[in-house]
Amino acid sequence: MGVERVQTIASLSNNLGTIPPEFIRSEHEQPGKTTFHGPVPELPVIDLANPDQDQIIREIVEASSEWGIFQVISHGIPEEVVKEFQRVGKHFFELPQEEKEKIAKQPGMKEGYGTKLQREPEGKKTWVDFLYHNVWPPHILNYNIWPQSPPEYRKANDEYCKYLVPLVDRLFEYLSTGLGLEKNVLKEALGGENMRMLLKINYYPPCPFPDLALGVAPHTDMCTFTLLVPNDVPGLQILKDDHWVDAKYIPNSIIVHIGDQLEISSNGKYKSVLHRTTVNKDRTRMSWPVFCEPPEDLVIGPLPQLISVENPAKFKSKNYKDYAYCKLNKIPQ
Ligand code: OGA
Ligand code: NI
Repeated sequence: MGVERVQTIASLSNNLGTIPPEFIRSEHEQPGKTTFHGPVPELPVIDLANPDQDQIIREIVEASSEWGIFQVISHGIPEEVVKEFQRVGKHFFELPQEEKEKIAKQPGMKEGYGTKLQREPEGKKTWVDFLYHNVWPPHILNYNIWPQSPPEYRKANDEYCKYLVPLVDRLFEYLSTGLGLEKNVLKEALGGENMRMLLKINYYPPCPFPDLALGVAPHTDMCTFTLLVPNDVPGLQILKDDHWVDAKYIPNSIIVHIGDQLEISSNGKYKSVLHRTTVNKDRTRMSWPVFCEPPEDLVIGPLPQLISVENPAKFKSKNYKDYAYCKLNKIPQ
Protein backbone atom coordinates (compact mmCIF):
# COMPACT_ATOMS: atom_id res chain seq x y z
CA MET A 1 0.00 0.00 0.00
CA GLY A 2 1.21 3.48 -0.80
CA VAL A 3 1.79 6.29 1.65
CA GLU A 4 -1.27 8.20 2.75
CA ARG A 5 -1.00 11.79 1.51
CA VAL A 6 -2.36 14.71 3.51
CA GLN A 7 -4.10 15.93 0.37
CA THR A 8 -6.19 12.72 0.36
CA ILE A 9 -6.79 12.83 4.12
CA ALA A 10 -7.87 16.46 3.77
CA SER A 11 -10.53 15.76 1.17
CA LEU A 12 -12.00 12.99 3.36
CA SER A 13 -11.77 15.16 6.48
CA ASN A 14 -13.50 18.05 4.81
CA ASN A 15 -16.37 15.74 3.83
CA LEU A 16 -16.62 14.13 7.27
CA GLY A 17 -16.00 17.29 9.27
CA THR A 18 -13.37 15.58 11.46
CA ILE A 19 -9.60 15.12 11.32
CA PRO A 20 -7.61 12.05 12.38
CA PRO A 21 -6.44 12.39 16.02
CA GLU A 22 -2.73 12.28 15.13
CA PHE A 23 -3.13 15.72 13.52
CA ILE A 24 -4.55 17.28 16.69
CA ARG A 25 -1.66 18.96 18.51
CA SER A 26 -1.42 18.96 22.27
CA GLU A 27 -2.72 22.15 23.84
CA HIS A 28 0.67 23.79 24.28
CA GLU A 29 1.15 23.62 20.50
CA GLN A 30 -2.35 24.34 19.19
CA PRO A 31 -2.30 27.55 17.16
CA GLY A 32 -5.77 28.44 18.44
CA LYS A 33 -4.36 28.55 21.99
CA THR A 34 -0.81 29.76 21.36
CA THR A 35 -0.99 32.46 18.68
CA PHE A 36 -0.22 35.87 20.14
CA HIS A 37 -2.77 38.56 19.31
CA GLY A 38 -1.37 41.46 21.31
CA PRO A 39 0.55 44.37 19.81
CA VAL A 40 3.80 43.17 18.26
CA PRO A 41 6.28 44.79 15.94
CA GLU A 42 5.96 43.60 12.35
CA LEU A 43 8.61 41.42 10.77
CA PRO A 44 11.26 43.75 9.35
CA VAL A 45 10.73 44.73 5.71
CA ILE A 46 13.87 45.75 3.82
CA ASP A 47 13.77 47.62 0.52
CA LEU A 48 16.65 46.41 -1.64
CA ALA A 49 16.15 49.29 -4.06
CA ASN A 50 17.32 51.70 -1.36
CA PRO A 51 20.29 53.60 -2.89
CA ASP A 52 21.88 53.77 0.58
CA GLN A 53 23.71 50.41 0.76
CA ASP A 54 24.96 51.10 4.27
CA GLN A 55 21.42 51.47 5.44
CA ILE A 56 20.45 48.17 3.81
CA ILE A 57 23.33 46.49 5.62
CA ARG A 58 22.37 48.03 8.95
CA GLU A 59 18.78 46.87 8.51
CA ILE A 60 19.82 43.35 7.53
CA VAL A 61 22.21 43.06 10.49
CA GLU A 62 19.58 44.27 12.92
CA ALA A 63 16.87 41.99 11.51
CA SER A 64 19.20 38.97 11.42
CA SER A 65 20.38 39.56 14.99
CA GLU A 66 17.03 40.35 16.56
CA TRP A 67 14.55 38.37 14.49
CA GLY A 68 16.48 35.89 12.39
CA ILE A 69 14.03 36.65 9.61
CA PHE A 70 13.04 39.53 7.33
CA GLN A 71 11.14 40.24 4.15
CA VAL A 72 12.81 41.87 1.17
CA ILE A 73 10.98 43.98 -1.40
CA SER A 74 12.27 45.36 -4.72
CA HIS A 75 14.56 42.33 -4.78
CA GLY A 76 14.95 42.26 -8.54
CA ILE A 77 12.98 39.10 -9.36
CA PRO A 78 10.24 40.13 -11.79
CA GLU A 79 6.71 39.49 -10.57
CA GLU A 80 5.78 37.44 -13.65
CA VAL A 81 8.80 35.15 -13.11
CA VAL A 82 7.64 34.40 -9.55
CA LYS A 83 4.01 33.95 -10.69
CA GLU A 84 4.99 31.46 -13.38
CA PHE A 85 7.26 29.56 -10.96
CA GLN A 86 4.31 29.32 -8.55
CA ARG A 87 1.84 28.38 -11.27
CA VAL A 88 3.82 25.35 -12.42
CA GLY A 89 4.35 24.13 -8.84
CA LYS A 90 0.65 24.45 -8.07
CA HIS A 91 -0.19 22.62 -11.29
CA PHE A 92 1.93 19.68 -10.16
CA PHE A 93 0.04 19.32 -6.86
CA GLU A 94 -3.28 19.45 -8.70
CA LEU A 95 -2.38 16.49 -10.95
CA PRO A 96 -4.11 13.14 -10.29
CA GLN A 97 -2.54 11.33 -7.35
CA GLU A 98 -0.99 8.56 -9.49
CA GLU A 99 0.84 11.18 -11.56
CA LYS A 100 2.43 12.71 -8.46
CA GLU A 101 3.38 9.28 -7.10
CA LYS A 102 5.59 8.74 -10.16
CA ILE A 103 8.16 10.97 -8.52
CA ALA A 104 7.53 9.87 -4.93
CA LYS A 105 10.48 10.30 -2.59
CA GLN A 106 12.15 6.96 -1.91
CA PRO A 107 13.40 6.13 1.60
CA GLY A 108 16.80 7.66 2.22
CA MET A 109 16.51 10.06 -0.71
CA LYS A 110 16.38 13.78 -0.24
CA GLU A 111 14.45 14.64 -3.39
CA GLY A 112 10.94 13.76 -4.54
CA TYR A 113 7.25 14.13 -3.72
CA GLY A 114 6.34 13.16 -0.21
CA THR A 115 4.69 13.38 3.16
CA LYS A 116 6.53 13.33 6.46
CA LEU A 117 6.44 9.72 7.62
CA GLN A 118 8.37 9.97 10.82
CA ARG A 119 6.11 11.02 13.66
CA GLU A 120 7.22 13.70 16.04
CA PRO A 121 8.15 12.93 19.66
CA GLU A 122 4.54 13.37 20.80
CA GLY A 123 3.36 11.08 18.00
CA LYS A 124 1.83 13.91 15.99
CA LYS A 125 1.72 14.58 12.25
CA THR A 126 1.71 17.75 10.23
CA TRP A 127 -0.88 18.89 7.68
CA VAL A 128 1.32 19.15 4.60
CA ASP A 129 2.63 17.33 1.52
CA PHE A 130 5.78 18.49 -0.25
CA LEU A 131 8.08 18.18 -3.22
CA TYR A 132 11.84 18.52 -2.89
CA HIS A 133 14.39 18.89 -5.65
CA ASN A 134 17.68 20.65 -6.12
CA VAL A 135 17.68 23.74 -8.32
CA TRP A 136 21.34 24.76 -8.20
CA PRO A 137 24.10 24.28 -9.35
CA PRO A 138 23.12 22.93 -12.79
CA HIS A 139 25.48 19.93 -12.73
CA ILE A 140 23.79 18.30 -9.70
CA LEU A 141 20.23 18.51 -11.03
CA ASN A 142 18.35 15.26 -11.52
CA TYR A 143 15.53 16.04 -13.91
CA ASN A 144 14.10 12.52 -13.50
CA ILE A 145 12.52 13.59 -10.26
CA TRP A 146 11.27 16.92 -11.54
CA PRO A 147 7.60 17.11 -12.56
CA GLN A 148 7.09 16.37 -16.26
CA SER A 149 3.82 18.23 -16.19
CA PRO A 150 3.21 21.01 -16.89
CA PRO A 151 5.77 21.06 -19.73
CA GLU A 152 6.87 24.56 -18.71
CA TYR A 153 7.93 23.31 -15.26
CA ARG A 154 11.64 23.22 -15.99
CA LYS A 155 11.78 26.53 -17.81
CA ALA A 156 9.89 28.31 -15.03
CA ASN A 157 12.30 26.94 -12.41
CA ASP A 158 15.37 27.80 -14.46
CA GLU A 159 14.09 31.31 -14.94
CA TYR A 160 13.40 31.80 -11.22
CA CYS A 161 16.91 30.59 -10.37
CA LYS A 162 18.46 32.89 -12.90
CA TYR A 163 17.27 35.75 -10.68
CA LEU A 164 17.55 33.99 -7.33
CA VAL A 165 21.26 33.18 -7.57
CA PRO A 166 22.41 36.84 -7.84
CA LEU A 167 20.03 37.75 -5.01
CA VAL A 168 21.61 35.05 -2.82
CA ASP A 169 25.06 36.43 -3.66
CA ARG A 170 23.96 39.92 -2.79
CA LEU A 171 22.57 38.81 0.58
CA PHE A 172 25.79 36.95 1.33
CA GLU A 173 27.75 40.13 0.64
CA TYR A 174 25.58 42.24 2.93
CA LEU A 175 25.70 39.65 5.69
CA SER A 176 29.48 39.36 5.36
CA THR A 177 30.03 43.13 5.40
CA GLY A 178 27.68 43.31 8.38
CA LEU A 179 30.09 41.07 10.31
CA GLY A 180 32.93 43.48 9.56
CA LEU A 181 34.42 41.10 6.96
CA GLU A 182 35.28 41.46 3.28
CA LYS A 183 32.14 40.91 1.24
CA ASN A 184 33.17 37.54 -0.23
CA VAL A 185 34.28 35.91 3.05
CA LEU A 186 30.97 34.55 4.29
CA LYS A 187 29.96 32.90 1.04
CA GLU A 188 33.39 31.32 0.66
CA ALA A 189 33.20 29.94 4.22
CA LEU A 190 29.82 28.41 3.43
CA GLY A 191 30.70 26.66 0.21
CA GLY A 192 31.48 29.37 -2.36
CA GLU A 193 30.64 28.12 -5.83
CA ASN A 194 29.84 24.67 -4.38
CA MET A 195 26.90 26.05 -2.45
CA ARG A 196 23.67 24.20 -3.29
CA MET A 197 20.11 25.30 -3.51
CA LEU A 198 17.31 22.88 -2.62
CA LEU A 199 13.71 23.79 -3.46
CA LYS A 200 10.83 22.57 -1.34
CA ILE A 201 7.24 23.17 -2.33
CA ASN A 202 4.85 22.94 0.62
CA TYR A 203 1.22 22.12 -0.10
CA TYR A 204 -1.10 22.68 2.87
CA PRO A 205 -4.67 21.62 1.97
CA PRO A 206 -7.68 23.21 3.72
CA CYS A 207 -8.19 21.81 7.21
CA PRO A 208 -11.58 21.76 9.00
CA PHE A 209 -9.87 22.47 12.36
CA PRO A 210 -7.08 24.96 11.69
CA ASP A 211 -6.91 25.91 15.39
CA LEU A 212 -5.88 22.39 16.35
CA ALA A 213 -3.39 21.37 13.65
CA LEU A 214 -0.03 22.63 12.39
CA GLY A 215 1.32 22.67 8.83
CA VAL A 216 4.96 22.54 9.87
CA ALA A 217 5.97 21.97 13.51
CA PRO A 218 8.30 24.48 15.22
CA HIS A 219 11.84 24.23 13.82
CA THR A 220 14.84 26.20 12.65
CA ASP A 221 16.14 25.63 9.12
CA MET A 222 19.45 23.79 9.27
CA CYS A 223 20.84 25.36 6.10
CA THR A 224 22.65 28.68 5.66
CA PHE A 225 19.58 30.72 4.82
CA THR A 226 16.23 30.18 3.15
CA LEU A 227 14.49 32.36 0.57
CA LEU A 228 10.76 31.73 0.54
CA VAL A 229 7.83 32.90 -1.55
CA PRO A 230 4.37 32.04 -0.22
CA ASN A 231 0.98 32.22 -1.94
CA ASP A 232 -1.45 34.78 -0.54
CA VAL A 233 -2.80 32.53 2.24
CA PRO A 234 -1.06 33.56 5.48
CA GLY A 235 0.29 30.88 7.82
CA LEU A 236 3.94 31.48 8.68
CA GLN A 237 4.52 32.19 12.39
CA ILE A 238 7.72 33.18 14.17
CA LEU A 239 8.61 32.83 17.83
CA LYS A 240 9.53 36.35 18.91
CA ASP A 241 10.14 37.16 22.57
CA ASP A 242 8.37 33.91 23.51
CA HIS A 243 5.26 34.71 21.48
CA TRP A 244 4.09 33.05 18.26
CA VAL A 245 3.45 35.95 15.90
CA ASP A 246 2.08 35.93 12.34
CA ALA A 247 4.24 37.01 9.41
CA LYS A 248 2.23 39.48 7.39
CA TYR A 249 1.77 38.59 3.74
CA ILE A 250 3.34 41.29 1.57
CA PRO A 251 2.73 40.82 -2.16
CA ASN A 252 5.93 40.41 -4.22
CA SER A 253 8.19 40.08 -1.21
CA ILE A 254 10.63 37.30 -0.43
CA ILE A 255 10.99 36.03 3.10
CA VAL A 256 14.57 35.39 4.21
CA HIS A 257 15.08 32.97 7.13
CA ILE A 258 18.47 32.83 8.80
CA GLY A 259 19.39 29.15 9.22
CA ASP A 260 21.61 27.25 11.64
CA GLN A 261 24.80 27.44 9.55
CA LEU A 262 24.72 31.24 9.52
CA GLU A 263 24.11 31.36 13.25
CA ILE A 264 27.12 29.07 13.72
CA SER A 265 29.50 30.81 11.33
CA SER A 266 28.61 34.24 12.74
CA ASN A 267 29.24 32.80 16.21
CA GLY A 268 25.71 33.63 17.25
CA LYS A 269 25.50 37.19 15.98
CA TYR A 270 22.87 36.18 13.43
CA LYS A 271 20.03 34.09 14.89
CA SER A 272 18.47 31.06 13.31
CA VAL A 273 14.73 31.73 13.56
CA LEU A 274 12.28 29.33 15.23
CA HIS A 275 9.18 29.15 13.04
CA ARG A 276 6.09 27.03 12.32
CA THR A 277 3.07 27.19 10.01
CA THR A 278 -0.66 27.16 10.50
CA VAL A 279 -3.27 25.98 8.02
CA ASN A 280 -6.48 27.48 6.69
CA LYS A 281 -10.06 26.28 6.95
CA ASP A 282 -11.09 27.04 3.39
CA ARG A 283 -8.03 27.66 1.29
CA THR A 284 -4.92 25.78 0.26
CA ARG A 285 -1.75 27.42 1.43
CA MET A 286 1.43 26.91 -0.57
CA SER A 287 5.00 28.05 -0.07
CA TRP A 288 8.23 27.69 -2.03
CA PRO A 289 11.29 27.83 0.25
CA VAL A 290 14.72 27.50 -1.37
CA PHE A 291 17.31 26.28 1.13
CA CYS A 292 20.86 27.51 0.46
CA GLU A 293 23.07 24.72 1.72
CA PRO A 294 26.79 24.16 2.11
CA PRO A 295 28.26 21.07 0.42
CA GLU A 296 27.93 18.00 2.66
CA ASP A 297 31.59 17.56 3.50
CA LEU A 298 32.34 21.20 4.27
CA VAL A 299 33.33 21.83 7.89
CA ILE A 300 31.45 24.79 9.32
CA GLY A 301 32.19 26.53 12.57
CA PRO A 302 32.45 30.04 13.97
CA LEU A 303 34.62 32.10 11.60
CA PRO A 304 38.13 32.47 13.07
CA GLN A 305 38.02 36.22 12.35
CA LEU A 306 35.13 36.55 14.81
CA ILE A 307 36.71 34.68 17.69
CA SER A 308 38.97 36.03 20.40
CA VAL A 309 39.73 35.50 24.08
CA GLU A 310 36.86 37.82 24.97
CA ASN A 311 34.59 36.27 22.40
CA PRO A 312 35.20 32.51 22.40
CA ALA A 313 33.55 30.08 19.96
CA LYS A 314 29.99 29.29 20.99
CA PHE A 315 29.54 26.37 18.59
CA LYS A 316 31.42 23.24 17.55
CA SER A 317 32.85 22.97 14.06
CA LYS A 318 31.57 20.01 12.08
CA ASN A 319 30.74 19.05 8.56
CA TYR A 320 27.27 19.75 7.23
CA LYS A 321 26.45 16.08 6.71
CA ASP A 322 27.15 15.24 10.37
CA TYR A 323 25.24 18.32 11.49
CA ALA A 324 22.24 17.26 9.40
CA TYR A 325 22.43 13.67 10.69
CA CYS A 326 22.38 14.81 14.32
CA LYS A 327 19.60 17.28 13.71
CA LEU A 328 17.36 14.81 11.86
CA ASN A 329 17.94 12.11 14.47
CA LYS A 330 17.62 14.52 17.39
CA ILE A 331 21.14 13.79 18.63
CA PRO A 332 22.86 16.71 20.45
CA GLN A 333 25.32 18.53 18.17
C1 OGA B 1 9.79 24.94 5.89
C2 OGA B 1 9.02 26.11 6.39
C3 OGA B 1 7.40 27.82 6.03
C4 OGA B 1 6.23 28.18 5.19
O1 OGA B 1 9.26 24.26 4.99
O2 OGA B 1 10.92 24.74 6.38
O3 OGA B 1 9.40 26.62 7.40
O4 OGA B 1 5.86 29.36 5.20
N1 OGA B 1 7.98 26.58 5.68
O5 OGA B 1 5.63 27.30 4.56
NI1 NI C 1 11.49 26.22 7.79
